Amino acid sequence: MKLEGHRLTKSYGAFRALDAASFSTGDEARVVALLGPSGGGKSTLLRVLGGLLLPESGEVRLDGEALPHEPAAALATLRCNGFVFQGYNLFAHLSLQENIALPLREVHGLAVVEAEARACELLERLGLVDHRHKRPAELSGGQQQRGAIARALAPRPRLLLLDEPTSALDPVMTGEVLDVVRELAEQGQQIVLATHEISFARRVADWVVFLAGGRVLESCEAPAFFQAPATAAAREYLGGLSKYR
Ligand SMILES: Nc1ncnc2c1ncn2[C@@H]1O[C@H](COP(=O)(O)OP(=O)(O)O)[C@@H](O)[C@H]1O
Ligand SMILES: [Mg+2]
Repeated sequence: MKLEGHRLTKSYGAFRALDAASFSTGDEARVVALLGPSGGGKSTLLRVLGGLLLPESGEVRLDGEALPHEPAAALATLRCNGFVFQGYNLFAHLSLQENIALPLREVHGLAVVEAEARACELLERLGLVDHRHKRPAELSGGQQQRGAIARALAPRPRLLLLDEPTSALDPVMTGEVLDVVRELAEQGQQIVLATHEISFARRVADWVVFLAGGRVLESCEAPAFFQAPATAAAREYLGGLSKYR
């Protein structure tokens, strides 16, 4: 994919979370990592990319095609992207299987049988078949996060958007989830993810967008970013993360 942001601005009240943020990936980016300090604008940018938030100004383009601006069309965009939020936010009162099947029926219009079949396929793919009848509270954090990824993948999204998918997980569960993300990337799924897991980003990302203070300070091929970050802010960020590892 080629993903571009042109002077994206989004404010919360008087505060600019995105401040004329611009970037452009290479034509063949498969996994784009959004990196940068907390508060830099990563979640806001992901929400704009997913059509969950409309920017006040600026434009997003995916493979040359502009993302729509008006709310109804933005909602349609949202439905073709798969979004996994910073928390897992599965529906607490539904089984894992129903968490996947219900939106397929109610939002995407699949018949009951098709929705069940697709849910089973994804539960299988993410190693969750044995847990399909459990509710979220009966699952580990890693299982819930894999369930959230399964739900996001169910409608075959063009882009899978992941917001710090491992931030609430212990190291073992982090490994489980990162394995799943790496496999999806290897199978060709296009992914944009915000993460602080630098060694992981180094392994799977082919493009890095580095955000701080609502601006894109660097946008470049991942190896170049990790080998020689161009800005002091990126050097400081990478240095800070590797200090105790
Ligand atoms: N709903 C909101 N209302 C007010 N301020 C917000 C809201 N969401 C985020 N912010 C602020 O916008 C800035 C960017 O936030 P965010 O996009 O979540 O950054 P990141 O994901 O990089 O940590 C932060 O300073 C945050 O406090
Ligand atoms: Mg965030």
